[in-house]
Amino acid sequence: MSLNRRNFVKGAAVASFLPSFNILHADTVTIGPKDDTINVAIIGFGAEGKVLSESLVRIPGVRVRAVCDIWKFHQQQARAFFKSYGMPVTVFEDYRDMLDKEDKNIDAVVVATPDWMHCEHTCYCLRKGKHVYCEKEMSNRLEQAAEMCRVAKETGKLLQIGHQRRSNPRYRHCFTKVIPEMLGRVTTAYAQWNRTLAPFFTVKRPPKQSLLTKYGYENPEQFLNWRWFYKYGGGSMVDLGSHQIDLFIWAWGVPPSSVTAIGGKDAFNPPRMAYDRVMCIYEFDMPDGTKNEAYYQVISSNSRGGFYEQFMGVNASLTIAEISARGNTVQRELREGGLTDADWQKFVDKGYILPSKGDLIKKEVTKDIAVDTRISLQASGNDLAVSMNKPAHMPHLENFFAACRHGEALNCPAELAYESAVAVLKANESADSRKMYKFKPEEFKVPPRA
Ligand SMILES: NC(=O)c1ccc[n+]([C@@H]2O[C@H](COP(=O)([O-])OP(=O)(O)OC[C@H]3O[C@@H](n4cnc5c(N)ncnc54)[C@H](O)[C@@H]3O)[C@@H](O)[C@H]2O)c1
Repeated sequence: MSLNRRNFVKGAAVASFLPSFNILHADTVTIGPKDDTINVAIIGFGAEGKVLSESLVRIPGVRVRAVCDIWKFHQQQARAFFKSYGMPVTVFEDYRDMLDKEDKNIDAVVVATPDWMHCEHTCYCLRKGKHVYCEKEMSNRLEQAAEMCRVAKETGKLLQIGHQRRSNPRYRHCFTKVIPEMLGRVTTAYAQWNRTLAPFFTVKRPPKQSLLTKYGYENPEQFLNWRWFYKYGGGSMVDLGSHQIDLFIWAWGVPPSSVTAIGGKDAFNPPRMAYDRVMCIYEFDMPDGTKNEAYYQVISSNSRGGFYEQFMGVNASLTIAEISARGNTVQRELREGGLTDADWQKFVDKGYILPSKGDLIKKEVTKDIAVDTRISLQASGNDLAVSMNKPAHMPHLENFFAACRHGEALNCPAELAYESAVAVLKANESADSRKMYKFKPEEFKVPPRA
């Protein structure tokens, strides 16, 4: 049955009487509310708050009760959006006001405000006894990201960070099966997020300056384009790189040992405060003494190739992207001593990849041009056998609510996200100094409060 607004509301009414999550976990400790409905508040109903809400209204047994946003226009949008799904919400300008007045009605909070407010909003909610799903980047200040981890630990509440690929079934298939079993040793990874030149956001009627000043925004331009100002965000490296650098750490199971970055700020005229482009190389010291490298670039002046990640092993490589049309392939290395046709077929039989749709590129190469030893023969790729047919953030939110209800393990708990926050924020520092930044292993552990 397709999910439209009307049958969702009907479905949700039925679903609230049913155990809606993985019954395998039914015997574990229940830490959610007794009737199994999780009551949710949202702080920040901007672009991402709206995207998350599209998933929230589709998760059975989740009921959004209140929304906080300092901008009246977004409060109105929230009210109208949830009303259209049969979920009337109370709206607030101030998060403390919301948490105080709705305290008894709220079990968990979704934080989707600009990065610089994550620590304040998250810690307040945790201390109020709420579980929190907070968007990435944890914070644009490492000390604040560390504080979020400490408060989660002290309060014993759950804190999931919004690196949603960690719960995406396509990514989980790749990181648990394809990368470890099909690729062979992966010495190299590459990822990029390229976007075309885009002017600053503007709106006809921004919030009044008195409201912006009250909440720490210097002017409407900075309020609407906070990513580009270090007070509120960390530029494109922190905004977009945070998703993809997290994947290097996931693939290799260790945080990086160094980063060397360069960046540019003059793609826009006048130049923006934060880097509009960064290119960097991370080194990873593996437990067996070998070293691996990941090259990363984020560009705001040209969208060529878009966004995707690649993991390159001696036996095969994986190209994956959150949008499968941009990356969904495993490609065999055609080399002496590499995987044979029979080896490859086994992965098809095991349900890791789909049968190949095309001929080997090898044939084209040998037909059209003289093959010499400098050209590596390339196989056409096989599509991944696992697909994802939900909104991108839905499985990550589902994982969070399953953790709230049944103690299922979070896929991106705060301490894990802290590692990638360290890796990402230090790339900006390396670009500033134009020097390699060498990490100490203890930097990836949350320090005690100073
Ligand atoms: N996981 C993802 O794929 C993804 C994608 C986009 C954004 N994000 C993250 O989501 C967060 C929000 O980004 P966005 O693109 O929605 O930004 P946005 O500017 O569109 O929205 C931010 C919202 O927060 C509100 N706000 C600002 N300060 C506030 C305060 N003190 N109290 C209450 N409300 C406040 C604003 O009025 C606005 O509605 C960021 O952390 C961003 O990195 C994640």
